[in-house]
Amino acid sequence: MCARIVSAIEAGGAISFQRYMEMALYEPGLGYYVNGLHRFGASGDFVTAPEQGRLFAQALARKLAPVIDSLDADWTLMELGPGSGALARELIVHLECPPARYLLLEPSAALRQVQQAELATLPKELAARFEWLDQPPEKAFSGAIIANEVIDALPVERFRIAAGDVKSMTVDVDPASGRLVWVEGPASDRLRRAVRHVCQDLPEALPEGYTSEICVDLPDWLQTVTAAMACGMALMIDYGYPRREYYHAQRSDGTLVCHYRHRAHFDPFVWPGLTDLSAFVDFTTVAEAARTWGLDVAGFTTQAGFLLESGVHNAIESTADDRKRLRLAGEFKRLVLPGEMGDKFKLMTLVRNLDPALGEFEFADQLHRL
Ligand SMILES: C[S@@+](CC[C@H](N)C(=O)[O-])C[C@H]1O[C@@H](n2cnc3c(N)ncnc32)[C@H](O)[C@@H]1O
Repeated sequence: MCARIVSAIEAGGAISFQRYMEMALYEPGLGYYVNGLHRFGASGDFVTAPEQGRLFAQALARKLAPVIDSLDADWTLMELGPGSGALARELIVHLECPPARYLLLEPSAALRQVQQAELATLPKELAARFEWLDQPPEKAFSGAIIANEVIDALPVERFRIAAGDVKSMTVDVDPASGRLVWVEGPASDRLRRAVRHVCQDLPEALPEGYTSEICVDLPDWLQTVTAAMACGMALMIDYGYPRREYYHAQRSDGTLVCHYRHRAHFDPFVWPGLTDLSAFVDFTTVAEAARTWGLDVAGFTTQAGFLLESGVHNAIESTADDRKRLRLAGEFKRLVLPGEMGDKFKLMTLVRNLDPALGEFEFADQLHRL
């Protein structure tokens, strides 16, 4: 992986961080998500909400139930970046009216194999409803879209404010040590425009030296993945903040985070291809893009707010088996406590040709913070 990155730099000079992240995560055969070495859960690098147990899928099934009631019986569910397939496995059994088609949009052939093995364990009648896609479908459907921890894996640009201008933090090779290093370079017009757009919304100008990330492809990506949903609800779940919090003056070194075997660190040049790279999501950008593409932003809350509202915890107390009750209580705590996943993770509901009330969150709605 390092040799491939170095030869890309030698061929054309320093590369943008977006290009670096794209290579480190998706370079054919070598990138983190495509090299077949990636493991989910306890034996991997990080644990996502669906990997914790069933509660997250149960809560999503409850949120989707009234949406499904207002759709045709042959509704479609599309999951983006399904990882190990854990969410798909639980969701399809917890939905009272399972989708006629469960589409899995997965760019990684290696992960697709993992998902196929996982979902083959379901009863045949349910397993037959899964279809894998390389591209979002062209044919219109009515249904729902779920993306859990997918936006944070989209490659981002890294920028710095220098002499009042926007600079691009690019990746080069240090001739003395041969190591990958950051080098400040001119920003493309696209990057400069995107940063200036964000800055218009902030209470004060970003200070000199301020460094952060921005996902310039996010609006186009959202359009691509939601275009075929003629009627329905998309649920975007990820770690992130509203824009003013994301680009807060005190968050002066961005949100880039790397995971290797359950350790988080902040140096993206360590073991590319073996380390997960991600950046927090600016949910205000998601909301703006959604409105541009004809979606209503119906709800925005924290993962804790969503799970508490769903009521999935009510059954924990009455679970007779002590071990099971303790396991469920532990799972619920990891999902909702502020120091764990509860506050950092947010849910945004986007609806098209559907009553926006179906996407609202009654408990702890934070739409006003976007
Ligand atoms: C952090 S994992 C999350 C996996 C899973 N959703 C979960 O919650 O456990 C990111 C997933 O997104 C996929 N992915 C990355 N870029 C994508 C894209 N542009 N469209 C759809 N999926 C993508 C990855 O291959 C991987 O399956």
